[in-house]
Amino acid sequence: MTSLFPSVRFGGDYNPDQWPREVWDEDVVLMQRAGVTTATVGVFSWARLEPSPGAFDFEWLDDVFARLHAGGIRVMMATATASPPPWLAALHPESLPVTASGVRLTVGSRQQYSPSSSAYREYALRLVQKLAERYGDHPALEAWHVGNEYACHVPRSYDAESIAAFRAWLEARYGTIADLNAAWGTSFWSQGYGSFDEVHAPADAPSFKNPTQVLDFDRFSSDALLALFTAERDILRAATPSIPITTNFMGFFKDADYWKWAKQMDFITDDSYPDPSDPNSYVQLAASRDLMRSLGGGKPWLLMEQTTAAVNWRPRNAVKPVGVNRLQSLQAHARGADGILYFQWRQAKAGAEKFHSAMVPHGGADTRVFREVEALGAELATLTDTLGTDVPARVAILIDWDSWHALEQDAVPTKLSYIEQLLAWYRPLLDSGVTVDFAEAGTDLSAYSVVIVPVFVAATDAALVAIDDFVAGGGRAVVTFQSAVLDERLHVRLGGYLGQLQQTLGVSVEEFAPVAAGESDDLPALAISGGITSGATLWQEIVNPTTAEVVSTFSDGFAAGLPAITRNSRGEGAAWYVATLPDRGGIAELLGQVLAEAGVTGELESSAQGVEAVRRGGTLFVFNHSAVDAEVSIGGSPTVVPAHDLIIVG
Ligand code: GAL
Repeated sequence: MTSLFPSVRFGGDYNPDQWPREVWDEDVVLMQRAGVTTATVGVFSWARLEPSPGAFDFEWLDDVFARLHAGGIRVMMATATASPPPWLAALHPESLPVTASGVRLTVGSRQQYSPSSSAYREYALRLVQKLAERYGDHPALEAWHVGNEYACHVPRSYDAESIAAFRAWLEARYGTIADLNAAWGTSFWSQGYGSFDEVHAPADAPSFKNPTQVLDFDRFSSDALLALFTAERDILRAATPSIPITTNFMGFFKDADYWKWAKQMDFITDDSYPDPSDPNSYVQLAASRDLMRSLGGGKPWLLMEQTTAAVNWRPRNAVKPVGVNRLQSLQAHARGADGILYFQWRQAKAGAEKFHSAMVPHGGADTRVFREVEALGAELATLTDTLGTDVPARVAILIDWDSWHALEQDAVPTKLSYIEQLLAWYRPLLDSGVTVDFAEAGTDLSAYSVVIVPVFVAATDAALVAIDDFVAGGGRAVVTFQSAVLDERLHVRLGGYLGQLQQTLGVSVEEFAPVAAGESDDLPALAISGGITSGATLWQEIVNPTTAEVVSTFSDGFAAGLPAITRNSRGEGAAWYVATLPDRGGIAELLGQVLAEAGVTGELESSAQGVEAVRRGGTLFVFNHSAVDAEVSIGGSPTVVPAHDLIIVG
């Protein structure tokens, strides 16, 4: 693996258009002091670049390019289409998005466009063409940053153009209205459609909406935004074939199917804003870094946005404790990031984000924050051994956007958070220093020794075959409750659920018995005993083994005495079925057995709150995210990792 970039990138969103030019002089000097390699320019500059329709003003941006270039700083040029100027709404009010309740959103904030607006698209693409022509040959240009955080504020719109585009999308998917009716199961509740023109977006309605219609609108809305991205990308690619193109992701983000998006991008970038007051935020942070690496097929990615101290959008905005900015930056690098960038370079003086921290705080350069930024810039420049190297993983967790939507729909057996279920399995692996990739349903899994399949509720037949092939070929799979209950149309897999996985797992499922409402999800309301003895929560069911052996049974509750965990040998491999959510210790114990069978060992011999370890290239990084020193055993020797610090071995 090689890096796209000659050194670890360092820098952030640079918004000089919010400042007078005297400040620009100081900006370049301070960027050089901090070791900034890269400035992301113009993310929200459309109104400045095109103050009235068709009248472009590039003089100021020419100056910014020239100054950065003279200072040896590369430009990640944004296409500036994230937020249209107010004149677009004045000229084309129909371009504004409409909520599910029929409210048309207005100007004065940002991202106020419908994903399917033809006016937005036309004006956005004209601007992108101009930018490509003007800056495509500039020697400072390092990459293109298209849009910004697509779907962050407006993932869906229910305006007339969106409804028309949804109908066209459905026609392309189903061909005939009869096939749509069959897929959506419209004989239920008198929903049968006579033509595509009768179909609507699933806006507010009297009762539960048609589940497949809702899922199709989720899929369509992600596709509509992706089409905006690819339209901009195509213009840039034609103008500058050698300049890489990205848009910034938002970690575990439900409203855009990142497997589809990632395939359209030259490199993956991510924005991350963990809550400094949550002692467990490092877990999801580590997982989101692993997700970004996986989305890019293992290639290095860039952390496009994070912040130095505090954000401004939580009810209470805790400051990152001293050291944590560095710690989380190096965590990203250890998990595959070849760039550490921020929102934003200089803390704003006005506007909605004036209390959001930045690289240069309100206090200027003689501050704790800027000194930490300078030190980090210097340290990142030394990371030449790990730049561009792989982060090898033998374990994967399957993540599937359709299942995420389906699991969290209305009218399901019990309310579950898809990401919480994934993280319940990720956490014990992180605790023992086992590196995890995320895998896409339906892909070849044979590169892994162990694959975890949590709550894979809406599964295609092909994806189930891929899991079965993996197991039969010698892999070890762990499949949880609420997997393969439905197909991709959200039709139930009758006759014991699980479809093809009945053979893989050697079980069928007769009846669900979610734990009754009112019991806390955090308290182990249930217990399981046998090969794994543990508390358990959320779920029970009646599992009927065919070829599987029973590992543990429910000790109590509706399914007392019935199987809770089973193991089935299949071909060269084995597959476990887990009919509940064991507590963290129970999951750790089960995974310990699975990993031992697969010959996978982690980097940490014992776990401790806040501690994680990951190997990139030949280098082992051990992080302590907690506020107290941690003693860990690495390679048999006890080692202290100071609070909010890390050690690098190798
Ligand atoms: C991101 C966004 C940035 C800034 C930041 C604040 O969502 O891309 O422009 O708003 O959040 O945390």
